[in-house]
Amino acid sequence: MSRIAYVDGVYQRIDTPGIHVEDRGYQFADGVYEVCAVHNARPVDEEAHLDRLERSLAELDIAAPMSRAAMKIVVRETLARNRIRNGIIYMQVTRGVASREHNYPSGLKPVLVVTARHTDPARRASVLRAGISVVTVPDQRWARCDIKSISLLPNVLARQAAKDKGVQEAWQVDADGMVTEGAATNAWIVDSAGVLRTRPADGGILNGIVRQTIIGLVDELGLTLEERAFSVEEALSARECFSTASTLAVFPVVNIDGQNIGDGKPGAVARQIVNRYDQHSFIEI
Ligand SMILES: Cc1ncc(COP(=O)(O)O)c(C=O)c1O
Repeated sequence: MSRIAYVDGVYQRIDTPGIHVEDRGYQFADGVYEVCAVHNARPVDEEAHLDRLERSLAELDIAAPMSRAAMKIVVRETLARNRIRNGIIYMQVTRGVASREHNYPSGLKPVLVVTARHTDPARRASVLRAGISVVTVPDQRWARCDIKSISLLPNVLARQAAKDKGVQEAWQVDADGMVTEGAATNAWIVDSAGVLRTRPADGGILNGIVRQTIIGLVDELGLTLEERAFSVEEALSARECFSTASTLAVFPVVNIDGQNIGDGKPGAVARQIVNRYDQHSFIEI
């Protein structure tokens, strides 16, 4: 079955040309996006993702392409046309088409693209069983990482650096030696005192939807949370490390820069969070 994309008002085969060469997303990475997990053909935490999409658009003075209700219809139709029960949905909004000038004319019509794909449940099972390894790289991004911008070149280079070293993710590190986040995940540790730590959601990181969900569950799980940055050294001596993102929810991190974390196996807190998160994502939908 060929994949179907929603492209600016039309459902079409994904390999059909559809974007104007002067779309500002193409020329300037002038746009934003969301990635949402799909379980049983329903987007997980859809409202939170659409809230963040609207916030990203507003921060960049890009108009919403349609109402939230219409957006949900496009999302469902894209899932149906691709027969996705479990997978991910990608939504991208660019500022629109204009003759190439850095500044933008007012009143541009934003361009929405929605795609969807299946995910492999075996991959998630293997990540949860064995964990992932990460490398650390300098964070080379701008000061507004809270905006989910399609301008992802530093994240692309970070993830490629991980791949080149044979590992799955790169944790980015700021000029003070503190971990910001992964190339496409938030970063967490359970420190040597047993406290769950993740960087505060300021301009230095994307405030992940999985991150926000976990923060909402810590009391119920009996965990102590500190939203406080941690250094690479603290991560290396932590009891546990993990990453989070909508794609697979929780990724236990068992090795950083070639050094095992704890006994080099996924930890108990990550497991506890995965179990509770899975209940959330199945109940919430
Ligand atoms: C840089 C970055 N941080 C964190 C995340 C995790 O966000 P979420 O939990 O909303 O998927 C992502 C997801 O794409 C990301 O790209």
